[in-house]
Amino acid sequence: MRRARLIAHIKYDTVSSRAESSAMEPLRLRRIQDLDLQGKRVLVRVDYNVPLHTGKVMDATRVQKTIPTLEHLLKANARIVLISHLGRPNGKSQKACSLAPVVPCLQALLNRPVHFLPDCLGEETLQRVLRLKPGEIVLLENLRFYPEEEKNAPQFAKRLSQYGEVFIQEAFGTLHRAHASTVGIPKYLGGAIGFLVQKELQFLDRTLNAPERPFLAIVGGVKVSDKIQVIRKMIERVDTLIIGGAMSYTFLESQGVSIGESPCEKDQLDLAQDIVQQTYSKGIQCLLPADHLIAESTRPDAKTKVAESMAIPPGWIGVDIGPHSIQLFSEEIAAAKTIFWNGPLGIFEIPSFAQGTLSVAKAIAEAADQGAISIVGGGDSLAAVRQAGVQERITHCSTGGGASLELLEGKALPGLAALAQVKA
Ligand code: ADP
Ligand code: 3PG
Ligand code: MG
Repeated sequence: MRRARLIAHIKYDTVSSRAESSAMEPLRLRRIQDLDLQGKRVLVRVDYNVPLHTGKVMDATRVQKTIPTLEHLLKANARIVLISHLGRPNGKSQKACSLAPVVPCLQALLNRPVHFLPDCLGEETLQRVLRLKPGEIVLLENLRFYPEEEKNAPQFAKRLSQYGEVFIQEAFGTLHRAHASTVGIPKYLGGAIGFLVQKELQFLDRTLNAPERPFLAIVGGVKVSDKIQVIRKMIERVDTLIIGGAMSYTFLESQGVSIGESPCEKDQLDLAQDIVQQTYSKGIQCLLPADHLIAESTRPDAKTKVAESMAIPPGWIGVDIGPHSIQLFSEEIAAAKTIFWNGPLGIFEIPSFAQGTLSVAKAIAEAADQGAISIVGGGDSLAAVRQAGVQERITHCSTGGGASLELLEGKALPGLAALAQVKA
């Protein structure tokens, strides 16, 4: 590969540089625009982990945001090989996690054909990739159909790296994972970051490291064990923390509040308890839902009612925050100058359980209209913002949920660190 003309200095992690005794230098990352890609076979790691419903892409934001990079590659007559994961198929091929539904969506956005290869490995895949003509694009099937992806198996990374003459990292939403396609490939194939990753880092670094205060973080969704460690670190930075969604029941149970049949990660109870205690001792406001919408099951037609206190009675499941919580959270949102939100506050995919999430999305948009900096991150959170019709009013819609949370925590993202170590 031709030596890069420029080295991008993306100082995305200034706080952790100080906090971690390793005195990590700001990462030196090459950018896509610094490489000569003319006619090259380019392996692009994207994050097309999009929400699907009845086999269709429910929200194409993550696909749409890779288009500038793909158009840049097409202009250079590159031959493009796209790799991604979708969902958590546990190392097995599962139709529900196929990337095939992304193809029509990408074709429409690019206005050109995209070929789908039903396996990300194998001789047939390799031969098809090697035969690619300039300007041709292939999307390979889900990397996580092989357990080697999440195990970061060197042989798997090596085989993937054979698809390209150069590697472009554009999967911002997956940079916090140390997997074969994030930290493994750069060991075999030099590369650079795409336009989306650049934009995300520039925006999130600037805003999250020097936020205008009060700084409010709202964390919801289902990935409790993933996000709870991050929440612990976040309380060093925020003024107010709101916890909602499936995440909140583990926190409520840790406070001795009954949660009925709502989901709870028992092995995270001590950590949740510790976080709540730390917010008290640090004088940080920590808000949990004050009431809930509860249902007899999570089926769309289930009987529902409002639980007017924090407690959920036996036999009932929390599916959304209640009206009082919506009001309280909206007041906090209106008072904040920087707002970061990741994770829906209820099962928003079901219209009758979506009101809390959609109301919070609208309250954030209103705060942004009044001058607050608002950042919403995460595949499902973006879908919710779009569903609420407010995406244009949000200051920055980030394609990263866990990844932007880890940036906020002040952590070096493994996918970037691996790329930065590669010699130009
Ligand atoms: P993001 O993709 O924005 O990072 P997550 O993947 O962590 O968010 O979580 C999104 C999921 O959380 C949605 O599918 C939503 O249905 C689910 N969720 C939110 N609240 C609840 C709840 N009370 N019970 C069950 N699932 C919930
Ligand atoms: C995300 O949606 O946050 C990313 O695509 C990473 O997915 P994961 O949490 O399943 O690793
Ligand atoms: Mg998600």
